[in-house]
Order: sequence, then C-alpha cells, then structure tokens
Amino acid sequence: MKHRRHRSRAAGSFLISLSLAFTAVSCSLTGQIPGSSEVESESDKLAKTLLSSADFVTNPASISSKSLSAFFLVKSTARGSVLNVSPSSPSTQAFDLSLDSSSVSASYLTSASDFSESSTALPSTSWIVVGVSFSEDPASMDLTVNGTLAAAPTQSGAPTSPLSMARYPVVTAAALKDVLFFTRALSRDEQSAMLLYLAKKNSLAITLDPALKIPVNNSSDPNFAPAQNVIQAKCHSCHSAWSGVSANYYFSSGLAVKGQAENSALYYRLTGSTGSSGPKTMPTSGSISASEADLIKTWINNAP
Ligand code: HEC
Repeated sequence: MKHRRHRSRAAGSFLISLSLAFTAVSCSLTGQIPGSSEVESESDKLAKTLLSSADFVTNPASISSKSLSAFFLVKSTARGSVLNVSPSSPSTQAFDLSLDSSSVSASYLTSASDFSESSTALPSTSWIVVGVSFSEDPASMDLTVNGTLAAAPTQSGAPTSPLSMARYPVVTAAALKDVLFFTRALSRDEQSAMLLYLAKKNSLAITLDPALKIPVNNSSDPNFAPAQNVIQAKCHSCHSAWSGVSANYYFSSGLAVKGQAENSALYYRLTGSTGSSGPKTMPTSGSISASEADLIKTWINNAP
C-alpha cells in the first residue's frame, strides 16, 4: 500500500468549497454497541487519536484535499444531498452523498471521465449512522450505512451531469447531527472506530460489517515496546501526535505496513535504515543508530 499522505501532498493545492449544513438535535434511540470491552476501549482510543489529529477538521468551510472522510447521523426521512463538495478548480472534481426514497449513495467525480458511485438501501431506523471515505483512488471509496458497507463502487465512465454532483438540494440542518470531517481517506479500522464512536455517543445500535476491521489491542506484541521506546526518544519531540498511540495507529495511518519495513515510511525514512526506498532524512535533527532503526524494523516485519 502506498503512503497516501505523500501522494496528497504531491498533488498540489486543491481548493474545495463546501456546502454543508449541520446542527445538534436531540435523538432518542437506544441500543448497545457490540464487542468486548477491550475491543471497545481500543476503538475508543483510536477514535480519540483521530479526533485530536491534524486530519480532523472542525470547520470544513475550506478543505484542501483530494481525499476526504465524513461521519455523521442523518434522519432517514431526509431527502437530498447531505454532503456536496465541489472544488473551484479543477471544476471536474466533486464528492457527493445523497439520500433518496430508497437508497443512500456516495459519488466521487475525479475527472470529466472518471466517476464512481456506491449505493445501498435506505435502512428503516429513524436516524442513520453514515460513514464515507473518499480516497484518491475512487475504486477504494467506502460508504457505510449503520455499520454495513455498501457494495464496491461501480465505475461508470463519464458522468452524465458534467460539473456539479448536486443532483438534489442540500438536506435541512435539523436532519443532520454530529458531522465529523477528516481531510484524508480513513482506513477501515479507523472508519470502524469513528462509526462505533458516533453510535455510542448517540446511543444507537449498529452492527459492524465483518469487512470493517475492529481495532485490536496490540499489547501482546513483544516487539512493539522496544520500537515504541525508540520512537518516543527519537521522534516525539517533533512528531508529538505519535505520543501514546497504539501499534495499530501506525498501520492504520499507513505509516507502517505489516511485514514490510522496507515499504514503511516509519522505517525507510530513517538515516539508520537499510534498503533503497525513500529519502533517509529522519530524524531531521538528532540521530538514530542502525541498531535503534533495527528495533523498528523487527517490530514492523513481525507484527501480528
Ligand atoms: C527535528 C524534528 C524531527 C524529528 C526528531 C523527527 N522528524 Fe520525522 N519529520 C519531520 C518533519 C519536519 C517532517 C515533514 C517533512 C518530511 O516529510 O520530510 C517529518 C516527516 C516524517 C515522516 C513522513 C510523515 C508523513 O506523514 O508523511 C515520517 C515517516 C517521519 N518523519 C518519521 C520520523 C521518525 C521515525 C522519527 C524518529 C526516528 C522522526 N521522524 C523524527 C521532523 C522530524
């Protein structure tokens, strides 16, 4: 898997103007979140990490990103575009999420000739927990409705409506709740964590699709602690976002790829690393020895 954040950075500036209305309204459904308390706490931790990361934006008025994830509650009686993001330039790129009388659909227009759409049946619950992750690769777009993943996106070639994906009016503010935005596509366990977080916060019952990975506790991995010590000593001074995160964080964020240290930015960027990929400039000040770098390599290559 490629490290997406490098790709989005390389993609250059991309201004998106967003039309979105949301507000807090009360909601009275109740339910239980499935899973053991350990799973829940790993998931809660990941949700907390995500919500305090730089990728989380509270004011989505101006987003500069080709990837985007959004999580929210919407009333099933709402009709129209929940989320409609159209960039000012290039004018052929847009994200859309809409409800009609029978389905919830997400669309991503990446160019005048590349359009993908995922759609799933409108559930009967009065509030719906929706998650959508638009990646730069439209084929890996994920739409989740009450924890169930929609079918893989269909690629329809050139879109029928040329520039704007806004096929419907934007739904009313009262029909939306808890809109959370991330300026990148989230991995499936990150999506799971956010969906469980939203469901729990609003006392809604959702059942996670087996294809969505529930974050697991990695404390059983004996190689993580030594690697974590190196990261803490040599990296936290600049990468403060990594402080206190689980092993899973590095894998789900794409910084590390299980079993592939040579393809993991967390390892190949190190001055003490072996192998050929990427610039070896980390840490930019201070130093790391080859044996310290090896501890990170050993953990990544043997991670369960
Ligand atoms: C003195 C500050 C500093 C230290 C210490 C430091 N980094 Fe960085 N790191 C940066 C800066 C600045 C960037 C962004 C520029 C770049 O990608 O080169 C960065 C970027 C990165 C990236 C790319 C991240 C991304 O999201 O694209 C990785 C991976 C990374 N560092 C790993 C490490 C590791 C592992 C350590 C510890 C061994 C470390 N860094 C220590 C300053 C630092």
